[in-house]
Formats: sequence, C-alpha cells, structure tokens
Amino acid sequence: MPAKKAAPSKKTNKKANGKPDYELFDNKTQAFIYNMQVNAVQRMLDFDFVSRRETPSVAAIINPTGRDTLQKFFFGPKEILVPVFKSMEHAAKKHKNVDVLISFASFRSAPQSVEEAFALKQIKTIIIIAEGVPERRMKELNAKAKELGRVLIGPATVGGIQAGAFKIANTAGPIDNIVESKLHRPGSVGFVSKSGGLSNEAYNMIARNTDGLYEGIAIGGDMYPGSTLMDHLMRYEKNPKVKMLVCLGEVGGLDEYNIVDALKKKTIKKPLVMWVTGTCAKAFTTDVQFGHAGAKAGGDAETADAKNKALKKAGAIVPNSFDDYAEKINTTYKKLVKAGKIKPAPEVEAPTVPMDYAKALKEGLVRKPANFISTISDDRAEELMYGDMPISEVFKKDIGIGGVLSILWFKRQFPKYASKFIEMTIMVTADHGPAVSGAHNTIVTTRAGKDLISSIVSGMLTIGPRFGGAIDGAAQMFSSAYDRGLTPQEFINEMKKKGVNIQGIGHRVKSIHNPDMRVTIISQYAKKNFKKTPILDFALEVEKITTSKRDNLILNVDGCIGICFADMLRNEMPKKEADEYIHMGALNGLFILGRTMGMMGHYLDQKRLMQPLYRHPWDDIVYLKE
Ligand code: ACO
Ligand code: LMR
Repeated sequence: MPAKKAAPSKKTNKKANGKPDYELFDNKTQAFIYNMQVNAVQRMLDFDFVSRRETPSVAAIINPTGRDTLQKFFFGPKEILVPVFKSMEHAAKKHKNVDVLISFASFRSAPQSVEEAFALKQIKTIIIIAEGVPERRMKELNAKAKELGRVLIGPATVGGIQAGAFKIANTAGPIDNIVESKLHRPGSVGFVSKSGGLSNEAYNMIARNTDGLYEGIAIGGDMYPGSTLMDHLMRYEKNPKVKMLVCLGEVGGLDEYNIVDALKKKTIKKPLVMWVTGTCAKAFTTDVQFGHAGAKAGGDAETADAKNKALKKAGAIVPNSFDDYAEKINTTYKKLVKAGKIKPAPEVEAPTVPMDYAKALKEGLVRKPANFISTISDDRAEELMYGDMPISEVFKKDIGIGGVLSILWFKRQFPKYASKFIEMTIMVTADHGPAVSGAHNTIVTTRAGKDLISSIVSGMLTIGPRFGGAIDGAAQMFSSAYDRGLTPQEFINEMKKKGVNIQGIGHRVKSIHNPDMRVTIISQYAKKNFKKTPILDFALEVEKITTSKRDNLILNVDGCIGICFADMLRNEMPKKEADEYIHMGALNGLFILGRTMGMMGHYLDQKRLMQPLYRHPWDDIVYLKE
C-alpha cells in the first residue's frame, strides 16, 4: 500500500511563520480559540506559565454569537485580558502572527469554522475538537486542506502538545499531571495516536521511561481524520530534535500499512515503538466497534493483530501486549542513549501555578478575615432565610410586614401586638397630603420630568427635624428625661435653657383644637395593648404644659411614634439594647418606609395628570351586567 502524501506539503508550508515545515508549533505560537471555552483557554495559559512561555498561547477568542469584548484570564499570578472577536477575519487582521485555530465549534458548525480559517492565509494548522462531523464534509475539507497546504488535526480529538512550547486546549489534563508527565519542557520522543485518552496515558509512560515527550498528537478516532498517524510520524522523522518515534494505532482502517511501507522503504529510519490496540477484538464472534467511529475491522487486514504483525515484520519495535509497551519504549530509549544518539534532556523545574482562590478556600488551604459580617438574612441555602425563618415559613406563619421588619431590624420576631403596632406606624405615616415638604418636592421633581427614583429621593431628602425626622429625636429626648427622673416641667425648662426645640412637640397646622387623628390612633393603641407605657405617659404630661402655652405645641405624629416605640422596645428587650437601637437612629426608618408609599402615589398621580388624555374605543361602549 502506498504511503499517503504527508501534510503539510513541503511546497506550500515551508518555513511557514519562520518554522521549518515539520514543526507545527513553537514556544511563540499563538492560536485563536473558536467559541467561548474559558476553561480550555485557562488550561492553555497555565501550561504556558509552567513552560515559561513569554507570551500567552491564546491570542484571541472567536465568539461568533457574541460581541467584541475582552475576557479576563490568569497568566501565572497575573491577570491578563484576552480579546474576544465576533469575526475571525477581524481577529486575524488584528493578530497577524496567529497561525493556529482551535475550533470548539459543534459538529454542525465546525466545517464552517474551518472554511473561515481556510480563507485566511495566515492560519496553517486547524484543530477540530467536535465529534460527529459528517464524513462527507470531512472528505471535502481534507481535500481543500491538501490543496491549500494546511494541516488539519481531528475531528474528535483532544488535540496534542509540543512539550514546553504549545498545548492544544484540554490535552494532558490538569496542570499537576502536565508537570508530572514532564510536558513543561521538551524531551526526545515524537508520539502520535488516534485516541486522546490513551495519549494522556502514553505521555505519562513516556515521561517515566525516556527523557520525555517532544511532541504528541492525537489525530482523533474518525474514519476520515484531517491528518493521519503517518503524516505526523513523517514530520517527526524529519525533525532532528525528535530521536525516537512512539505510536499507538487502532483496529480498523489501513493507515498503519502506510507506516509499514515507510518502514520498508526506509522513509522512516528512526526507531519506532508501535502498538495497535484492539487485539482483543478477536475474542468477540461479531465485529466490534471500539468507541471511535473508525475503530472497527472491515476485513482481516484491518485487525489489530494483522497490523501489529506487519509492523513488526517491517522493522517496528512491537511489544507483545500493551503491558509490554512501556518496557519497549524504555529499552529503545536506553539503546539510543548508549549509542550517543540521545543526550538526555535536562530536568527543568516548573514554576508553580498559583491555585485559584475559590478552590483553595474550598479545600481549606487559605483563610481570610471577612470584610464584613451579616447576621440578619442569608441566601446561601436552598431557601432565602429571614433570620432563622425560611421565606416559605414567613408566609405560612403570615408574620406580615411587622413580623418581617422585627426580624430584619431587631433580629427577633415580636409578638402580634408589637408587629401590628409597627404596621400601624407605617400606615399612618404613608401620606399627609401634597403640601408637606416631601410630597411637595416629589411633585415638583416629577413635573420636571424626572424618573420615579429621582422623584422619590428628592422627597426623601427633605426628611429632617421639621418634617418626619423627629422620631428618633423624640424617643431619645423623652426616654432620657424620664430615665433621669425629671419632672415634665424640669424637662421643658432644661430644653428651653438649651434653646433646643423638644423633638416630637409642635405642629404647623394641628393643635389641641384640631387634633391629629394619627396621634390619637397610635397612642390609644399603645395604651390598650402595651404592658406599660411610662414614656408615653410622661410625654402626655409634657404636652399638657406645652399646649397650655401654645395650642399647636402638641405631641405630634413623629413624637408619638418615637415615644411609643421606645416603650414597646423596652417591653420586648433589655433596656440597654432598646436604648442602643434608639441611639443608632433606626426609628426615622419607619417614616421613610411609610412615606415612600405616599411619595410613590404623588409621582403616579402627577404622571397621570401630565399624560395627554388617553381615549380608547371601549369608552364608547356601555358594558352591562345582567
Ligand atoms: N419645643 C418647644 N418650643 C417649640 C417647639 C418645640 N418642639 N416647636 C415650636 N416651639 C416654639 C418655638 O420656640 C417658637 O417660639 P417663639 O415664638 O417663642 O419663638 C414657636 O413655638 C414657633 O416655632 P416655629 O418653629 O415657628 O414653629 P412651627 O409651627 O413653624 O414649626 C415644627 C412646627 C417645625 C414641627 C416645630 O414645632 C418643631 O420644630 N418641632 C420639633 C421637631 C418635630 O417634632 N418635628 C416633626 C414635625 S411633625 C412631622 O413631620 C410628621
Ligand atoms: C406629615 O406627616 O407629613 C406632617 O405631619 C408633617 C408636616 O410638616 O405637617
């Protein structure tokens, strides 16, 4: 059987990109990766780092369904940006040195990605990872590749590796395996196989029995591979850095007979250790297909036994079984060393690739103090938790807004009377007409054409001592005066002396003659439902004195809420803790919560009024119900 012409052809690919025609890669080779395969890219870059490459082996990613952008990767300990292009043509214009395409396109779009690469003169080697590319399409692509002098590797391949120089995609597995198999620096062995899985096994075997791999290629298991075992062996034969050849054939197909011919014709002169797998096929009574599409003997000559026999006869070093393969590799290597043909490659220490932080953390190898602590809610479990309560329980127990607020603000679930009280405070503060500062500002901002959030925020920013922001102040002043045992009059005198308005006292329009019903509702609820209301009682005495001077110096809604809240908190938690909450300034939040509803209402109201009247045909219809 005649040996097929080896690709790349001498004529078209000679010294392509400065490399001799038998070299597909070197330690400056850069590739395009077709499709967003971020893990494969990171593995390639990790290999680059342990191989002490100066430049990353991936120049860019081609993502035809995305947009032009940048993607972050690690190059050793440093972060780098790898460009992502929608179009391969565009990428090629920007990266003229790139001569390899690794296509992760699916079996449907792989041929198209290869054709795109054919159209670019600079791409010399194309690797097709996909399995199941239609055979008819592969035949067409192979013919075109020959014509153009391009090298195809695959389909259905993991790719290959040039030790210490360039690694295709996921070849050779995790980085510790790569270093253990000495793939971070070149040795003297040229290897080729069909199977990717077995080539990983073989790299390890070669590392343990020789000075290591120079280059290894898995051509893939399909019927019509882009390049053959023979093609790569011929490249190794020509390459002076490769001193011995190791090959794994497979049951099915006749490619191995090209090698037999080359051995006979002495076109392969370097020692070749070769084994054809699938010798066990004879144990089956019917034809067996071994995983790969092409791994099935179509006739006697295609059986592994026949091929092993022919290879041995032609001069290949053929082991007696796969178990004997390593031994044969070892003895062949030793002979070459003894004969002075191999000067064992020096060992090179591989730099350590830093472990990813997330992985190290998961494995308990690093620890780091957290930047902040959170104790109120947690979304790491299956269900969102408010405190100790899964969100489904929140609804099952129907704890209401008051219950949710008590958990998130005060880290406990208050009894019903207290959570109802919280809800009442929010309800009474929801709105107080369009004239008050917050509503007014929201209205003006809305009419100025601003969006919902801007309009509400402009209203919120007016909350302060003269509008809605006296709840905390009132709680603090009244509880402090009460705790210090002051009489209401002493308290009023003290504040007057300081020249400070008592927070929670006074209203611009409400007075004892025009009482604020909100205050009545809240204070009566507190008196009826709280265990005790000492601060409220004290405040009502203060109000008696202030209103005797001016009828509008009433206990206002802020004051009433703040003071009743202080009484409620002291009922439900130790006094010290309750005072802490009041001093944190938590209680004005009640007004913020309530008034958001009102401001939102004013926003919508103004928007509606600003709309041109919308008239739709249903207006003309009278809908009647029987
Ligand atoms: N304590 C003691 N004296 C007061 C108080 C008070 N809280 N409020 C007003 N006064 C006195 C003033 O000293 C002034 O006295 P003077 O005429 O002898 O100088 C007089 O009453 C009028 O004061 P103004 O500030 O003009 O009162 P106005 O009616 O405009 O203000 C306001 C009402 C802003 C609520 C005022 O009473 C006040 O500052 N209260 C304390 C803060 C407060 O509770 N804010 C919340 C308001 S309610 C809400 O926003 C939902
Ligand atoms: C309100 O609830 O907004 C009012 O009581 C405040 C005010 O300034 O009248």
